[in-house]
Amino acid sequence: MPRQLFVTTALPYANGHFHIGHIMEYIQADIWVRFQRMQGHQVHFVGADDAHGAPIMIAAQKVGKTPQQFVADIAAGRKPYLDGFHISFDHWSSTDSPENHELAQSIYRALKAEGLITVRPVEQMFDPEKGMFLADRFVKGECPKCGAQDQYGDSCEVCGAVYAPTELKNPVSALSGATPVLKTSDHYFFKLSDPRCFDFLQSWTQDGKLQPGVAKKIKEWFTKDENGEGGLGDWDISRDAPYFGIEIPDAPGKYFYVWLDAPIGYLASLKSYFSAGGPLAKYGETRSFDEFMADPAVEQIHFIGKDITYFHTLFWPAMLKFSGRKLPNQVNVHGFMTVNNGEKMSKSRGTGLDPLKYLSIGMNPEWLRYYIAAKLNANVEDVDFNRDDFTARVNSDLVGKFINIASRAAGFLSKRFAGQLTATLGADGQALLGTLQAGRTVIAEHYEQRELGKVLREIMLLADRVNEYVDANKPWELAKQEGQDARLQEVCTVCIEAFRLLSIYLKPVLPALVGNVEAFLQVQPLVMGDAERLLGAHTIGTYQHLMQRVDPKMLDALFEPKPEEAPVVEAVQPGGEDIAPTITIDDFVKVDLRIAKIVNAEHVEGSTKLLRLTLDAGEGRMRNVFSGIKEAYQPEQLIGKLTVLVANLAPRKMKFGVSEGMVLAASHADEKANPGVYVLEPFPGAEPGMRIR
Ligand code: MSP
Ligand code: ZN
Repeated sequence: MPRQLFVTTALPYANGHFHIGHIMEYIQADIWVRFQRMQGHQVHFVGADDAHGAPIMIAAQKVGKTPQQFVADIAAGRKPYLDGFHISFDHWSSTDSPENHELAQSIYRALKAEGLITVRPVEQMFDPEKGMFLADRFVKGECPKCGAQDQYGDSCEVCGAVYAPTELKNPVSALSGATPVLKTSDHYFFKLSDPRCFDFLQSWTQDGKLQPGVAKKIKEWFTKDENGEGGLGDWDISRDAPYFGIEIPDAPGKYFYVWLDAPIGYLASLKSYFSAGGPLAKYGETRSFDEFMADPAVEQIHFIGKDITYFHTLFWPAMLKFSGRKLPNQVNVHGFMTVNNGEKMSKSRGTGLDPLKYLSIGMNPEWLRYYIAAKLNANVEDVDFNRDDFTARVNSDLVGKFINIASRAAGFLSKRFAGQLTATLGADGQALLGTLQAGRTVIAEHYEQRELGKVLREIMLLADRVNEYVDANKPWELAKQEGQDARLQEVCTVCIEAFRLLSIYLKPVLPALVGNVEAFLQVQPLVMGDAERLLGAHTIGTYQHLMQRVDPKMLDALFEPKPEEAPVVEAVQPGGEDIAPTITIDDFVKVDLRIAKIVNAEHVEGSTKLLRLTLDAGEGRMRNVFSGIKEAYQPEQLIGKLTVLVANLAPRKMKFGVSEGMVLAASHADEKANPGVYVLEPFPGAEPGMRIR
């Protein structure tokens, strides 16, 4: 009986184009899907844009588009990526589709009928100018812990503290600059703390269907720590207008939080595929979407990245369970794609491996498919794109071991035997082909388990056997010897038969290449079952070169930074922190730096950090400056020395008096690991009052 598989990848946010991480996920899922199709199973592979949420709404506003228009423009750019890397989605939709509006509302109604929805007031930051509540990332201010300026509402990038946006000092709205006010509003919650949810998730996540590492992580989420923190809390699923999303039924002005309707988009995309008649055309499937999803034999399978595990293994199954729907059969979690030794991926610039650039410089998409497959296993491990490793695997394995088998044999067959294969094979040839045919079981098992690295290792071991056979039989020498015609035809036939078997096994990874192989061999589209039979007395076409090797120059071009990016190397953090964003000379001259003489220095009573400095900056008056250098210097060491003063810094009122400027000193960003504060001192000759420029 063919399996019925409903397969999805995570729905990408429609606020930007695909990056290499998305493509990696699609390649993994696409290979699995193509394998299942080649096994004769019925597969519906769907995706969609994740359209909703505050960030998209605000991004659209910024460029003067409606969110619908904004999302449509992003969606319009998807095709070159998907076609370019041979990703074979059956259907692509959007979470803003009518199907999703309807499904989200009906799932919500079902949860409400189960008594799993509750309403509670929530106090939140509100932007009075924009008239909207602010998500954490849209509030900025001073870190309550270390005082660092310009930090987001959820955590401090300087000291790492995590806090609520209401704790920020001097908060401002990142949208308008206005001071946010606290405002209370009713929020809708999904009662995950309900014992029914807890019991269900406890068993659903721990019954062996999830990857072991994932199940273990979830167990930690279930457990409360000694402070009673953690565990499963109720989930806030509502947001107040204005919001780009789906309206909550019977709750005017309330919308579903984007993560409520996003996974429902999987179902909505399948539904719209059914409405468009896709399954009917492809498989003669006459059932409705509802009938199909009610069939317990249908398997629902998700591919996602590790960062969204929580949503897919807790919220999503709970939503499905308590609205009476089919549950996921698999949630396959993958690690992250990194580039050239784990170089940190920046949100704005991606990884430096731009998928469209890859294609535009003529790099073969199947090199990347092959390489990613070779590095993937069924665990949640990151995959690094390493240029030398990439070149070696493609050139030595894919081209050197596999493609070469055909190129070594095809010429003799067409020149000497009009492309005719022989059905009479010697014992050695038969044995070799038997080994290759027998490899199918373990290869199929590895595909099924998403052990793609093992799939390719197995195939390359078989290719080694074929190359040993070629080296032992030397067709190029047979071709020169009298009376060896039959043996030459036989050896070349074995090569072509072997090449065909390997092509079957590689087809999920290399669909376009194997399409060309099928044309060359003059055979029907290959499926896994074709490995049971050999071609026998069959005529093949003329061989044309199937795949180039990687030229290192292409990789130079691929990673050549765009000019404006050149000075920033993200992996290196001098002094423990990135260089601050570029400023102009006009920005710099705003800071008035002067040479100042430390006329006096003394301890400050009651302070463990500060010294009080009396500075002469040539102004005919003294300045009082507090400086946090007590740990590093004794007052006597400083008196009489010259240093650098920020002379036009706004005076600051402190507990001990007013500080009229700031003295410059150097330190490492991580002062705990790299202690030491070093006050700046000019070269001899500088005099108090001189400006530094
Ligand atoms: N919109 C949500 C998903 C909703 S699913 C109902 C989202 N979108 S995303 O665009 O940020 O990410 C889409 C997928 O790409 C996720 O599975 C995510 O894990 C994956 N990746 C994002 N960056 C990645 C890498 N660097 N490497 C591999 N996959 C990564 O999350
Ligand atoms: Zn901080």
